[in-house]
Amino acid sequence: MWRVLGVGHSYLLILMMLVSVRLSIVEAQKKSFLINCGSNSSVNVDGRRWVGDMNPNNNVTLSSPGVAVSTSPLSGISIYDSLYKTARIFTGSLNYTIKDLQGNYVLRFHFSPFVDVEDYNVNKSSFSVVANSLKLLSEFNVPEKISQLQNSGKNSSSFSLIKEYLFDISAELVIEFVSTGNSFGFVNAIEVVPVVDELFASSVRKVGGGNLNVMGRGMETMYRLNVGGPEIQPDQDPDLWRTWEMDSGYMITQNAGIGINNSSNITYASANDTSVAPLLVYETARAMSNTEVLDKRFNMSWKFEVDPDFDYLVRLHFCELVYDKANERIFKIYINNRTAADNVDVYVQAGGKNKAYHLDYFDAMSLSIDTLWVQLGPDAGAGAAGTDALLNGLEIFKLSRNGNLAYVDKHDSAGNAASKSKVLWVGIGAGLASIAVIAVIVILVFCFCRSQKNKSSDTKNNSPGWRPLFLVGAAVNSTMAAKGSSGSQKAYGSVISTRAGKHFTLAEIIAATKNFDESLVIGVGGFGKVYKGEIDGGVLAAIKRSNPQSEQGLAEFETEIEMLSKLRHRHLVSLIGFCEEKNEMILVYEYMSNGTLRSHLFGSDLPPLTWKQRLEVCIGAARGLHYLHTGAERGIIHRDVKTTNILLDENFVAKMADFGLSKDGPALDHTHVSTAVKGSFGYLDPEYFRRQQLTEKSDVYSFGVVLFEVVCARAVINPTLPKDQINLAEWAMRWQRQRSIETIIDPHLRGNYCPESLAKFGEIAEKCLADDGKSRPTMGEVLWHLEYVLQLHEAWLNRDSIVTSFSSSQDLRGAKDGGLELVHESSSQDEENE
Ligand SMILES: *[C@@H]1O[C@H](CO)[C@@H](O)[C@H](O)[C@H]1NC(C)=O
Ligand SMILES: *[C@@H]1O[C@H](CO)[C@@H](O)[C@H](O)[C@H]1NC(C)=O
Ligand SMILES: *[C@@H]1O[C@H](CO)[C@@H](O)[C@H](O)[C@H]1NC(C)=O
Ligand SMILES: *[C@@H]1O[C@H](CO)[C@@H](O)[C@H](O)[C@H]1NC(C)=O
Ligand SMILES: *[C@@H]1O[C@H](CO)[C@@H](O)[C@H](O)[C@H]1NC(C)=O
Ligand SMILES: *[C@@H]1O[C@H](CO)[C@@H](O)[C@H](O)[C@H]1NC(C)=O
Ligand SMILES: *[C@@H]1O[C@H](CO)[C@@H](O)[C@H](O)[C@H]1NC(C)=O
Ligand SMILES: *[C@@H]1O[C@H](CO)[C@@H](O)[C@H](O)[C@H]1NC(C)=O
Ligand SMILES: *[C@@H]1O[C@H](CO)[C@@H](O)[C@H](O)[C@H]1NC(C)=O
Ligand SMILES: *[C@@H]1O[C@H](CO)[C@@H](O)[C@H](O)[C@H]1NC(C)=O
Ligand SMILES: *[C@@H]1O[C@H](CO)[C@@H](O)[C@H](O)[C@H]1NC(C)=O
Repeated sequence: MWRVLGVGHSYLLILMMLVSVRLSIVEAQKKSFLINCGSNSSVNVDGRRWVGDMNPNNNVTLSSPGVAVSTSPLSGISIYDSLYKTARIFTGSLNYTIKDLQGNYVLRFHFSPFVDVEDYNVNKSSFSVVANSLKLLSEFNVPEKISQLQNSGKNSSSFSLIKEYLFDISAELVIEFVSTGNSFGFVNAIEVVPVVDELFASSVRKVGGGNLNVMGRGMETMYRLNVGGPEIQPDQDPDLWRTWEMDSGYMITQNAGIGINNSSNITYASANDTSVAPLLVYETARAMSNTEVLDKRFNMSWKFEVDPDFDYLVRLHFCELVYDKANERIFKIYINNRTAADNVDVYVQAGGKNKAYHLDYFDAMSLSIDTLWVQLGPDAGAGAAGTDALLNGLEIFKLSRNGNLAYVDKHDSAGNAASKSKVLWVGIGAGLASIAVIAVIVILVFCFCRSQKNKSSDTKNNSPGWRPLFLVGAAVNSTMAAKGSSGSQKAYGSVISTRAGKHFTLAEIIAATKNFDESLVIGVGGFGKVYKGEIDGGVLAAIKRSNPQSEQGLAEFETEIEMLSKLRHRHLVSLIGFCEEKNEMILVYEYMSNGTLRSHLFGSDLPPLTWKQRLEVCIGAARGLHYLHTGAERGIIHRDVKTTNILLDENFVAKMADFGLSKDGPALDHTHVSTAVKGSFGYLDPEYFRRQQLTEKSDVYSFGVVLFEVVCARAVINPTLPKDQINLAEWAMRWQRQRSIETIIDPHLRGNYCPESLAKFGEIAEKCLADDGKSRPTMGEVLWHLEYVLQLHEAWLNRDSIVTSFSSSQDLRGAKDGGLELVHESSSQDEENE
């Protein structure tokens, strides 16, 4: 029974009518039950104590013992090492009974698929859940659901699932788990948290007019967003321990709304609303972006996948943070393309500035529709004021129908095989589709090349060693050209079609480089000098001339041609052609007009890069490396990742260069390649140095050093510094371990970066530098996390620009830290036996 709730204009009246009802209710057992399933020990997570369900004194009874398992896919992340480490498995039926509950409660189930439990393949689990005869889940398969979420891209780093329900309990709670058919089910934790009666009103406005009584209907939380702000973690919402996601992933056009924030003096519009949402939700918002257009003819729109054929309650949270009078911001609210409200003036409805306020709407979904749109836009009827909208938070709840909240996606369970195969791709990260396409092409091409290689072995015998390799390269190029648009780069398309494997004459090269004019030297590589030149009547190129005396040069030269001819990628420098004449070995590359990344970090007069540019460069380089590691049949290890091998084109797009030292990655049946140690001092993986065994993780190590170099803007080895600072990797790791990397960053960045993004960035670098290669992330993971860091920073930048345009001198509160963690949990926790 949802008792009242003050919503809208008539809330006082309704409240007065209900005071008598409220008083008759005993303030009974309003305590939480936090159950750590499959364990007899208690753990502390989020500062709360979760009691093991084998503990006999916890007032929780189990109808049958089931099987307790202790295993978790992700160790090193606190919640996975504690609460999610244990689970209770059941076949048939298992009841959890909790006595002495009275009133409204939030019920949460935590599911974290376990690994390596004989006889129980978690992928084959399927079960239903009924709580006090309200059906919550049916034929539910946790891994499948998680992979759906991951594929939707909204929270693709999550390996666990929390389902949340709200309903009224009159005496006790019986949670009945039943496995489907011969299958089994499991649960890792159960959370029962009391809710104030006023959380929802009994009567809710319907979209399209009228009111509806929702009393007695159970609810499932579908979405809960902190609009325009960072993710809010359960421990930042200590009333109900909710998670508030970021909203940007659900927006149709992120540019339509811009983040604003102000934490001063916010209070609840109604004193009874304190549990509705933490004030943190109201401190940030999205308003319509006003940078470009004055006459706004667009909406801020959010789109959500929902289960068809259910009713939904949409709760919008508002707080006017900017204007301190009425008639400044008036807008319309649309739900599923229908007007839910017009003439909304938050200042007026909430009773002033900085008043936390919310509106609820009821909308019924038809059988065929599985998306729910929420849109806020200008209200033309309100004149000049009607051009701006505001939203601070958004929640979507599914309402039960005939005692049912469970939805079985028939279509999906039929297409089981298809959705299973998708799982394989999960976790690889962004840019996946294009990488997959390229990888397939590369493999095809590679096989093709092999057959070519065999055919051409006769020629090979009478030619300089590297030359037939280049013929192979030409074959690659023409095959790629035939594939047309799948080429990853515009310029590349023209290169391959017109100059595939172009053989330049020495005369052309001499003309291009003004006879190797020293003033055109743009770099000195491992085997010779690099000149800037114009070839083919004006195309800028980087021309790399090997030192004719260098034997090692020849080998690296071959390697590089072989590598480059196999690889084409937007974030790898591409080869235009070559020249081989009179003992000269010359490679012609696309020209990268902004030179090396290092030159933009320190030791030059170039303007410093912004934090955003640095992140974009790191992401580009990571993409290039990720492609090297995963794109080709065996994967390729770069072996010389450093800031002078990351080049920037005219748009500051980063590309990996210099594959002179590259090696094919280990074949499938080997885990490493044994090889003499090569690479650059300061970047060299100590494990590789010790064991002389090369894996992709050595590149990851060097990339971690690059990350620190990018943020600290100093040389990786600087012998002029005090002893403990000479080696950047060691020095930066000392600060990073103390979580104070900000102390040593490039002074140019100060004040111009999102602190959370820096903290996260530091963590990524730290993980890359793990001593043991196996504990380092893959480049794909690094890439994924860097993209997340960039998102954090961009969100911060948007907020920043609008806030400062309103005012610069006022009290602005810094972002809370720890709120956005993906890799680490900041909550303390320990485990103890009872
Ligand atoms: C529970 O405690 C008993 C001893 O009290 C111990 O033998 C058993 O292994 C424990 N089980 C788990 C899952 O920790
Ligand atoms: C169990 O219930 C009793 C009585 O209702 C109460 O005194 C006790 O504190 C409860 N124990 C726990 C662990 O909740
Ligand atoms: C679980 O609870 C349900 C509903 O109260 C009941 O029908 C069922 O028999 C119980 N199952 C077990 C195994 O106790
Ligand atoms: C479940 O499926 C995923 C993806 O197919 C696979 O990676 C995982 O190993 C499977 N788990 C088990 C226990 O078989
Ligand atoms: C997103 O994933 C992270 C990491 O697993 C998790 O902590 C967070 O709760 C998830 N957010 C939501 C809304 O599920
Ligand atoms: C934040 O709110 C306070 C109190 O209402 C106000 O004085 C201040 O101007 C606001 N700051 C901004 C940047 O809007
Ligand atoms: C905050 O609220 C208090 C009490 O309502 C008031 O005295 C104070 O001036 C307010 N501060 C700002 C910055 O508006
Ligand atoms: C809040 O609820 C209490 C009862 O718990 C009631 O006495 C009071 O009038 C309500 N206040 C408001 C502002 O609605
Ligand atoms: C609402 O409009 C959008 C396009 O503006 C459309 O894609 C969507 O299907 C519509 N939703 C409904 C429920 O009609
Ligand atoms: C905003 O969205 C609603 C519902 O989809 C639509 O009817 C309206 O035309 C849109 N407004 C603008 C300015 O695009
Ligand atoms: C609010 O804006 C300020 C200034 O732009 C920024 O420093 C702060 O991180 C923002 N806070 C939140 C919670 O977004």
